[in-house]
Formats: sequence, C-alpha cells, structure tokens
Amino acid sequence: MIYSKPEQDKNFLVNSTNYQQLHQQAFADPNAFWLEMAKRLEWIKFPTTSGNWQFQKPISIKWFEDGLLNVATNCVDRHAKATPEKTAILWVNDQGAKTVALSYSELLKEVNAMAHVLQCLGVQKGDRVIIYMPMILETAYAMLACARIGAIHSVVFGGFSPESLAGRIEDCGAKIVITANEGVRGGKTIPLKANVDTALLQTLQVKKVLVINGTTTSVPMVVDRDVVYEPDYSKTVDPVAMNAEDPLFILYTSGSTGKPKGVLHTSGGYLTYASLTQQWIFDCKEDDVYWCTADVGWITGHSYVIYGPLANGATTVMFEGVPNYPKPDRLWKIIDDLKVSIFYTAPTAIRSLMQAGDEWLQTTTRDSLRILGSVGEPINQEAWEWYYQKVGKTRCPIVDTWWQTETGGILITPLPGINNLKPSSATTPFFGIQPVLLNEQGQEVHEKAAEGRLALKASWPGQMRTVYGDHARFEETYFSQFPGYYFSGDGAKRDEDGDYWITGRVDDVLNVSGHRLGTAEIETAATHDHSIIETAVVGFPHAIKGEGIMVFAIPAGNTVHKEEELRSIIRGSIRSQIGPIANPDEIHIVKGLPKTRSGKIMRRILRCIARSEFEKIGDVSTLADPLIVEHIIEVVCAKA
Ligand code: PRX
Repeated sequence: MIYSKPEQDKNFLVNSTNYQQLHQQAFADPNAFWLEMAKRLEWIKFPTTSGNWQFQKPISIKWFEDGLLNVATNCVDRHAKATPEKTAILWVNDQGAKTVALSYSELLKEVNAMAHVLQCLGVQKGDRVIIYMPMILETAYAMLACARIGAIHSVVFGGFSPESLAGRIEDCGAKIVITANEGVRGGKTIPLKANVDTALLQTLQVKKVLVINGTTTSVPMVVDRDVVYEPDYSKTVDPVAMNAEDPLFILYTSGSTGKPKGVLHTSGGYLTYASLTQQWIFDCKEDDVYWCTADVGWITGHSYVIYGPLANGATTVMFEGVPNYPKPDRLWKIIDDLKVSIFYTAPTAIRSLMQAGDEWLQTTTRDSLRILGSVGEPINQEAWEWYYQKVGKTRCPIVDTWWQTETGGILITPLPGINNLKPSSATTPFFGIQPVLLNEQGQEVHEKAAEGRLALKASWPGQMRTVYGDHARFEETYFSQFPGYYFSGDGAKRDEDGDYWITGRVDDVLNVSGHRLGTAEIETAATHDHSIIETAVVGFPHAIKGEGIMVFAIPAGNTVHKEEELRSIIRGSIRSQIGPIANPDEIHIVKGLPKTRSGKIMRRILRCIARSEFEKIGDVSTLADPLIVEHIIEVVCAKA
C-alpha cells in the first residue's frame, strides 16, 4: 500500500517548489549547502569552513571548525529576545493534575540561575556533568545550563541502575552529578538520589551532588557533598563562547561488545543538524505545538525534545509520565488538551496503545494533529496503519524516521508533502545524506532494488565525532568492517523506487522497546552471581516491545538453587548491573550452549530456537557438542 502525498503541499516548509533544488544543492556542493544551513544559528563568529572529514583512518570529522557560538544562546536567549512571551516548554506531570507553560523569557531566567549555581559549585568549561533526572523542567535547565557555561553533560536515563551510573561517571570523569530526590513515572517512584548514593560508594570521582527536590519526599544528604538546588536569580551568567567543535554532550549507548560507549557530539554541527531536521521533517512552524514523547535520557530526547525544537524557537512538550497511566487514553487526552499539532513517538508505545483498544481513542478527537512521527525501531505495518487510520484519522502524514544516537539527527525519512508514504518504510535520505547498501565484501550494491548493510559514504554535521576517551574504539566500531564508510550496524532493503526499508540490527545488539542493549552487556550482568557460569542472550520477536530478551543460562555444577531461584538470581543481577530496562522476557536453564570447537557461541542457532524456526538451524555437526541443540529445543519447548 502506498499513500500518496497530500495535494496541498505548497504549505509545507519543504514543498515541490524547493525540494529538488535543495537536493541538488546538497548533492552538488555539500560544503556550500551546509554552510548555508548553518546560518539558521546565531554565531559569535560565523564559520568560514564547512565539512572537513575523512572516513579513512585516521578518522577525523569536523564541521564549521573556525566558528564560535553558544548552544544555550541559540536555544534560549535569542528567542527570549525575539519572542519572550512565547511558550518554550509545555510540561505535563505524571498524575495529570498539572501543566506548566514556561515562556522563553522564563526559560532564560531558569537556565541562567542554574548556570550560576553550577559555576558556584566549581563547574567550568570542558568539565563533565552527569544528569540523572526524571522528565521535569529542571532537567532541561540543567542541560542548557551546562551548554551555557561550556560544560559537557551526560544524561543517564533514570531506568539505569547505580552500577551503570557509576560506570558512566568513571568513564567520563564527572566531578558533579545533578539528580532529583526521586522521580515519578506511571504512578511509581524511582529513588534517583538513593541510586546516586549507591553509585558513589563505587567511585570517589564525584565531589558534588546537586539535588533537585521535585517532590516533597526528603532524602538523606551527605555533608560537604550534597547540595539542595536553590535558584539564585540575582546573577547573570554570560554564555561562554564555544568553538563549533567543542563537545556539547556525551551519551552512552550499547554496542555489540564491551561496556557502553560514550558517544560524543559537538556544538555547531550537531545543533545545525538537530535544528534543521526538526523544522523541516516535522514541518514545524510558528504556531505548532510539538510533542516528542522520548525521555531526555535518550538521543531522541536530546535532539527532538530539547535542542532541535528550542533552537527553532518552537513550543515543545515535555511529559513526565508514561502512555498508559493512569489509563491508555493519556496521550490522546494530552493531545486534545494542549492542541498538539505534531506528535512523535515510538512503535512500542503505538503497539501497546493499539493493543489496549480503539475505545481509548473515543473520548478524544485529536483534531489538532497534522503530522505524526515514528522512531527507534521498525514500525510494523499493522501498527503503522492503526497510527495513520485511527490516531491521525488519515489526515496526518507519518514520518518514519531512521537514525541513531551516533547520527545526532534523522537521516532517512519521508518529508511530509513530498514523499509518498509506505507503511514500514523510512523511504528517502534527508538532504545531503548519502546512504549505501554494502554486500558482505564491502562493495556498494548499485542496483536500485537491493538488500545489504546500511552505511553512509559521506559525513553530515550531526555525526558523532568520537567515542569519548577512546578514538580507537570509534574507528574500530564504525569504520573498520567496511573501510571508507560509516557502518550503522543495521541491515536494509531498497525497493524499485529507491526507498529504504530498515530490517534491523545485523550485529549483536538488541532493540527492546526502542532501547538499544548489547547482548554481551546482558550476558556479563547475568553471570554476576557465581551460581551462573555462562549465559547467551538473543532477541526474539515480541508483540509489544519489538524485540524480547531471551537468556540461556548454564548453572554452576555445585549450585544448590532450584531453577526458579536461578531465574530470579539472574533477573536480580541484570537489574542491579544494568537496570530494569534490561529485564529478560524468558530465561532458560540449560546444560550447555551451542559452541564451535574453538569455543565460540553460535548465537545464530539460539536465535532460530528463540523464534521457533527450527528448520533454519541447519547443519550442527561442526559444533563441539551437536546434541546440545536438541536439549535446548526441549527446554524451550517444555516451557512454551
Ligand atoms: O536499528 C536502528 C533502530 O534503532 C537503532 C538506533 O538506536 P538508538 O541509537 O538507541 O537511537 C534510537 C533513536 C534514534 C538503529 O540502529 N531504528 C531507529 N529508528 C528506526 C530504527 N529502525 C527502523 N526504523 C526506524 N525508523
């Protein structure tokens, strides 16, 4: 099924009049195109250079490198001057009793106040600041306050455990943590400050903890270390002039090996890209109320809740809660209440609300909507159709946006009013983006209709610059398998029209509810207790989460624990080492794992078993113990 573009496309920011011309400009002279696009920002010194990058080792990526700017000035001050009364952030609380409309002038006051407090705590340009917070306004202030004084923030999602938090603190060398007494989400509280206290038992790195009391619950404070946030509005903090290539933030993300990587984004290129894509892809105009439901703990929250929309002077919604609390009509009610016109969410949320039933749509009209978006994982056809037909009442184009933490912003997406919509297809590269499909040998597949590994052959301003503190890992992870290209880790198909269909990860990375988790990371966590000697983790299709987590675990020979106890030990280890977001869907206690004679686990076989695709297992005679496959199938089938 193809849904053709709307007739009245002249009203869109990108329309049939300027589309071809923009594509041609970006293709013919990308450097001139991006320099032109950089003019959308307010620069202290406008750059004379555009892209300066190479995808051959040593990998180096720079954009606008002689430009000077301040990201917070761009997101706050300039709009506080031009449109002081305009609502910058519409904040909606978990319970639904409260909405705060914060204007750009109020945002400036708050960001300034927090910047001052950070300075008083000794935070300087280049210092790393961990932000471990719920979705409250102060989280936005904290990110922008860091940007104002040139500190590098690293937001850690509240669903990560103290152990994960400690690892990130150590890795980036943060001296300060900003947290809240507790978070509230879906009616439950998250003990953020207590988690910070536990994390800090493992590292001496952090000297100060700034605590925002978002609720009335009081928490223990450590003398000389913990400080309650009290804004001081009397002082002005001048924004620090930053080089375009000065770091803006680090965001940790999982890979197929080792511990999470600190993805580093810099200032000028990132903001140019986040701002441009937010405005053009969502067709975000002056009077729109724009809502991206992502948590700021993820890249989508950075680029499309905070930096992109605020750089554009838009009104962005920040929601503390979850889609199904108190009832599965929560999102639709907020859309009606706030007159949301652009709505961007994840397939997981769409699937779970679809499952809750159409009756939850009936008390709302959603008439204010004009654009819908999807992100984070492939959206299946059924969910796409429901989103389009039922939520948007066939009036609203869906932009299915493909991108990654590493890409900083959206790379492949339909543009509303330009591209035909195909359910489940992210369709077309954005201006200046050059995707290719590579075969196993690393050659570009030139046929239009093809399948392969999705890579990029040219840089764009929003691209990550390095893995914080480990450039060799950056080169190894993204540029070594296919030299000369940035390899995304995803597979994709291209159809006869040249449209892209993302098929999912081709490495050992799971995408659970749109969140990336490395199998290796979960395996390490699952074996934390000595009663488990080895585990293997694979993904399997899950109706709501997209992908579920299946753990195969070998218990220690001398363990006294029963199977059920072993399962809860594994769950406990994963919860404490990573956090509740990695909670497994199925745990199978097995005698062994399918391994080659050299000891490598054949996850491909486990994936076939997890999907009940037994016929695809193929020849197992080269395994060290071929009989183990039958045993594992028996265990899995017995449990089903
Ligand atoms: O596999 C792709 C999937 O999510 C991965 C990136 O995850 P993360 O860095 O956490 O960023 C998520 C938000 C951008 C990709 O490698 N993915 C993301 N968007 C889509 C997608 N898969 C299919 N369709 C999408 N629209």
